[in-house]
Amino acid sequence: MTSPALSFERSDALFRRAQQIIAGGTTQGKAPDTLLPGEYPIYADHGRGAQLWDVDGNRFLDWILAYGIIVLGYCDPDVDAAAIREIRQGFAFPLTRPVQNELAELLVQTIPCAEMVHFFKTGSDTTTAAVRLARIVTGRQKVVRWGYHGWHDWCCLREPGIPKAVREDVLTFRYNDLDSLEDLLARHGDRVACVIMMPLEIEPPAPGFLQGVKELAQRHGALFILDEMRSGFHLALGGAQEHYGVIPDLATFSKALSNGYAMSVLTGRRELMRRLDETYVSSTFFTDAIPMAAAVATIDKLRRTQAIPHLWRIGQGLLDGLNRLAAHTGVAAEAVGVAPMPFLTFTDSDPEVRQTAKVVFYRETTRRGLLLHPNHHWFVCAAHTDRELQRTLEICGDAFETVKRELARGYRASVRPHTEVTVATGRAPAGPGGASK
Ligand SMILES: Cc1ncc(COP(=O)(O)O)c(C=O)c1O
Repeated sequence: MTSPALSFERSDALFRRAQQIIAGGTTQGKAPDTLLPGEYPIYADHGRGAQLWDVDGNRFLDWILAYGIIVLGYCDPDVDAAAIREIRQGFAFPLTRPVQNELAELLVQTIPCAEMVHFFKTGSDTTTAAVRLARIVTGRQKVVRWGYHGWHDWCCLREPGIPKAVREDVLTFRYNDLDSLEDLLARHGDRVACVIMMPLEIEPPAPGFLQGVKELAQRHGALFILDEMRSGFHLALGGAQEHYGVIPDLATFSKALSNGYAMSVLTGRRELMRRLDETYVSSTFFTDAIPMAAAVATIDKLRRTQAIPHLWRIGQGLLDGLNRLAAHTGVAAEAVGVAPMPFLTFTDSDPEVRQTAKVVFYRETTRRGLLLHPNHHWFVCAAHTDRELQRTLEICGDAFETVKRELARGYRASVRPHTEVTVATGRAPAGPGGASK
C-alpha cells in the first residue's frame, strides 16, 4: 500500500503566482518542487524544535533544517531571546554594537585556527574574501578547490555569465586522493594562492588526508583554507579542524553559527587576517548585530548543553537504523556520511532500479511526514529526540518495504538526471538540483 498523497494546494497556488513575479519562482537555488516534483511542500508556515508546518497545514519532522543553519531547533528560546534583546535596543545603527567584540572573543576561544575574525553576511561572501586574502598574501592568482563554496564567479557551478579567465584560474582535485592534488600542484604550484576545501561532504576524510592536503599546499607556498560552513558547529564546537585535528591557515563559517540568523565569519592566523586591510571588504549589513547576538547565544548553548554529542548520537542511531532496515528488507541502500550529517544512497547497479527506489522512498517518507532531502545530505539538530528518531526509522522501514514491493511488481520511475545524487566533485551537477548546495 502506498501512502495517500498530501495536499499542497496553497503551496502550489503561491508558487504559480511567484513564477510570474519572482525570477526562478524562488530565491533558493533549488526550488523544493524539483526535489521530487509534486511531493514536497514549497512554503513554510512555522517551525518549532525539529518540526516544520507548511502553509497547507502538513506537519513534517525536518532533517533538512535549511541546509544545516538550524542546529538547536527552530525558535530556540535562548537564541531568539538574545536576538529580540538586540532588536529592542534599536538596530541598524551607523555604529558598531559591543556584541561584535563579544562574539569575536568567543570565536577566538572556540575555533582552533582563529586568532582574528572578520564578519560577513553569507557563506559566499566569506569564501570569496578568503580567496582574495590568499591572493593578496601570496601574490598568486590560481585557486585549487574541492567542494561547494557558493555562487560567486570563482566557484559558480554553472558556466554562463562567468568570464573564461576567472574559470581558468580555478582548478579542482579528487577527494581522498592526495596524488591528484600533488599532480596539480606539481604543474601549477608556483601560481597557486590557496587550496580551499570543505573538510568533507559525505565521504569522511581518510586518515592523514586533510593533514596531507595542508602539507602539500604549504610546501607549494599556498594557504590551506577549510570551508567549514556545514561542518562548523556540527562535528565539534571548533569544527572539523578540531574534530580531525588539522589546523588550517584560514577557515570560513556560517550556517549553524547563529541558528538561522544570517551571518558568516572568516577566521585565521593573525598575520594573514591583518592583511585584509589591503583590500576592501564591506557591506551595508555586515555590522548587523542581531545575528551576532544570536551567535553568542547559540555557541553558549551548544557548549552548555552538550548538544554536539547529542547530534552524533542521534545521527549514528539514524545511520545504524537505516542500514539495519535496508539489510532487513533487502533493498540495496547504504546510510553514509558522518553522524551529524547523515545521508542515504541507493546502491543497485541498475540506474533505473536505483532511481525507482529513491523516488518511492522519498515519496513515502514525505507523505508520512518526514522532510528528508533526496539529493543533499541531511542534518541532525539538538531538538531531534529519541522518540523522533524511532518514528523516523519506523517510517523509513515502511518506505523500504514499499520500495521492495514496487520493485518486485516491476514498477520503474522514469529516470530524471536532475534527481541523481552528485556529491561535491567541484564540477557542475547534471542539472538543477545537484547535491552541492
Ligand atoms: C560548504 C559551503 N560553502 C559555502 C556555501 C555558500 O554559502 P551561502 O549559500 O550562504 O552563500 C555553502 C552553502 O550551502 C556551503 O555549504
